[in-house]
Amino acid sequence: MKRMGNVVVGQSGGPTAVINGSVLGVYQAAKELGADHVYGMVHGIQGFLEKNLICLEDYLESGMGRELLRRTPSAFLGTCRYKLPQIAGNEAVYEQVFAVMEEYQIEAFFYIGGNDSMDTVKMLSDYAASHGKSQRFVGIPKTVDNDLPVTDHCPGYGSAAKYIAASMKEVIRDVQSTGLTKPTVLIVEIMGRHAGWLAAAAALAKGEDCDGADAIYLPERVFDPEDFLSHIRAVAETKNTVVIAVSEGIRLGDGRFVCELSGGADSVDVFGHKQLSGCGLTLAEMVKSQTGFKARAIELSTLQRSAAHLASLTDADEAREAGYHGVMAAAEGRTGVMTVLRKLHDTPY
Ligand code: F6P
Repeated sequence: MKRMGNVVVGQSGGPTAVINGSVLGVYQAAKELGADHVYGMVHGIQGFLEKNLICLEDYLESGMGRELLRRTPSAFLGTCRYKLPQIAGNEAVYEQVFAVMEEYQIEAFFYIGGNDSMDTVKMLSDYAASHGKSQRFVGIPKTVDNDLPVTDHCPGYGSAAKYIAASMKEVIRDVQSTGLTKPTVLIVEIMGRHAGWLAAAAALAKGEDCDGADAIYLPERVFDPEDFLSHIRAVAETKNTVVIAVSEGIRLGDGRFVCELSGGADSVDVFGHKQLSGCGLTLAEMVKSQTGFKARAIELSTLQRSAAHLASLTDADEAREAGYHGVMAAAEGRTGVMTVLRKLHDTPY
C-alpha cells in the first residue's frame, strides 16, 4: 500500500459517546502508513477554512492520550454545522479549502459526521475531480439518529440506544414503585429528528425484569393527540402507571411538530433543520389538562448522546474501525466515499 502523506480529520454535527474513537482510528491508520502529521480541524470545516488546525501528535503521543481520547464523549476537536455553498458562484470558498490543503501538504481529508457532513465530502471531492486536484475526501459515518443510507448502522447509535434502553428500565421501575392511587403518566422524549431508530430503542427495555413502555411514538407516523389520550386512558384502566416514549420529531396530521404547539422548534440551523425539543413536556401538559392524571416529562436531550459511562464497546470499536478503514480506502486512492458497516451475521454479531 502507498505511503500516506499528511492528513486532516474533522468532526461535524451532533457529538456521540464514541465519535472520538473515529479520530483515533484515522490517527492510527495514518501513522501506520507513515503520515508525518495528522491534523485536526478545530470545529470542522469552519475551523479548517480559518486554518484553525492542531497537530494530533501533540495530544496522542504521550501518557494516556489515545486511551483517554477513545473513552471521552463529546467531540474532542469541536464540531460545526456549516453548509458549504454550491460550487457555482462560490469558487472562492473551495479555493480556500485547497489553499489550506496545499499549505499544510495535506493529501487526504476525513470528515466524521452524518448526512450533511457527507454532502460536504461529496462537494469537495466533486470540486477536486473537476479541477484536477489529487487530494482525497472520505466520510466517516457518525450519528445517533442512525439515518445514513447504505451502511447497516451508524457509529454512535448503539451507545445511545443502550443508554435509552437502560434509562427506560430505570425510570419505569421508579414510577412503578411509587404506589400511587392516582394514575401517573411518564413521557420520555428521545432524539432522532425524523428517524425513529433512537425512539424505537426504548423497546429494548422490555424483558423478564421490565414491562417496557406502554407505547412508543415514532416520527415516521402521524401523531394523533386523540388516539394518544385514549390509549393513556385505556392503559390507566388496568394499571396505575403509564410510560410513553416519544420521538422529538413527531408531527401532527397538518405537518406541524408536536413541540411547536408550545413554542419549540423556533430555531433553525444553516441546513434548515428545526431544533426539536419540548414535545414531551407539551404532551405531559396535555395529559394533565385532559385527563387530570399526574404527568411528568423527561427529555433525554444530550444525555443520550454523551453517556460515555454506558457506551457500547462494540460501538466504540466500530467507530474506531470506521476511521481506520477510511484512511485505508484513501490510501488505495479512493475519494468521494464513506466507510460503511456491513453486518455479516447476527450470531455471533
Ligand atoms: O443529528 C443528531 C442530533 O443529536 C439529533 O438527534 C438532534 O435533533 C440534533 O442532533 C440536535 O442538534 P443540536 O445539538 O445542534 O441542537
